Amino acid sequence: MDRRAGITALGAYAPPTVLTNQDLETRMDTSDEWIRTRTGIRRRHVAAEDEFTSDLAFRSVEDLLRRYGDEALAGVDMVIVATNTPDALFPATAALVQHRFGLTAGAFDLLAACPGWIYALSVAKAYVENGQCRKVLAIGAEALTKLVDWDDRSTAVLFGDGAGAAVVEEVEAPYGLAPMVLGADGGGAEHLHAGAVGACLPGGAKLTPKVVMNGREVFKFAVRVMDTATIEAIDKAGLTPDDIELFVPHQANFRIIDAARERLGLPEERVVVTVDEYGNNSTASIPLAMTHALDDGRIRDGDRLLIVAFGGGLSWAAGVMT
Ligand code: ACO
Repeated sequence: MDRRAGITALGAYAPPTVLTNQDLETRMDTSDEWIRTRTGIRRRHVAAEDEFTSDLAFRSVEDLLRRYGDEALAGVDMVIVATNTPDALFPATAALVQHRFGLTAGAFDLLAACPGWIYALSVAKAYVENGQCRKVLAIGAEALTKLVDWDDRSTAVLFGDGAGAAVVEEVEAPYGLAPMVLGADGGGAEHLHAGAVGACLPGGAKLTPKVVMNGREVFKFAVRVMDTATIEAIDKAGLTPDDIELFVPHQANFRIIDAARERLGLPEERVVVTVDEYGNNSTASIPLAMTHALDDGRIRDGDRLLIVAFGGGLSWAAGVMT
């Protein structure tokens, strides 16, 4: 019989230090009113100076263990950390996490901008279903505030730090992850990028290791792709929007989330919104929001969840799970 992969455990972490819109007012030419009305963000959680992505990832897995017990990690044979802010180019951040839990699993990082965690879920699903792995730890972790240009108010107000972790393993029907939608368009690099060791723009100009964004272009792209990718993912799952009990979108901007909700025809109570509290913490945003929804009793047995994300250079992903 065909194997089915699904999520069996979740955990999340956000660093305790909070930066409010009022704090930002004292650091740059912005206002709480501007930030709230344009983005829905009120606060963001910020990693300490000596706290990095592997530390946030580690804490999200600790949270998972607190919820499900140590046996949740028994048999994990692959660790994937989806991140845009790896501690180092090598070793993989996933290897650092693997080592801290004493696991003998394979480990690698996955770099696919904000949709990275959905990409990681799709890899975990494939590994479990094709027999490559028994149990995959799929983490989204981000210390994005270390990459933010604090002199650029158009990006600095948007981002935060955090992490979320999931165990993916074999499950019985009706549970499981449906086939996912994964997309990318490197032609959009100019609209949202952050430099590493090379260049991604025509002409090969040296990039800074800071987030550079054309907000208006990304906004238009996001609204478009949240619509097309969700419809495609629902279709791949053999469902219609009416079948979706809970929509957990990437938490970048409340206006983008609400536009996607409206296009899907979903009522407000079927959408999870955490952007007000965390800002955009990229790959961490969906597992963090899902963990909140679990804690709030908003995910019930058998519910079908729709997830979708968009992000850098440009990329997108969506999927449905039960
Ligand atoms: N405070 C006050 N004013 C500001 C700020 C700020 N923080 N930032 C920009 N402004 C000003 C601009 O200078 C501009 O002034 P002007 O009219 O005098 O020129 C005015 O506000 C309007 O600027 P716009 O860029 O048109 O504002 P917009 O309504 O588009 O909102 C925003 C900007 C919030 C960035 C929006 O475009 C957006 O959310 N885009 C999507 C961004 C996104 O989600 N990126 C994340 C992708 S995922 C990832 O890569 C991690």
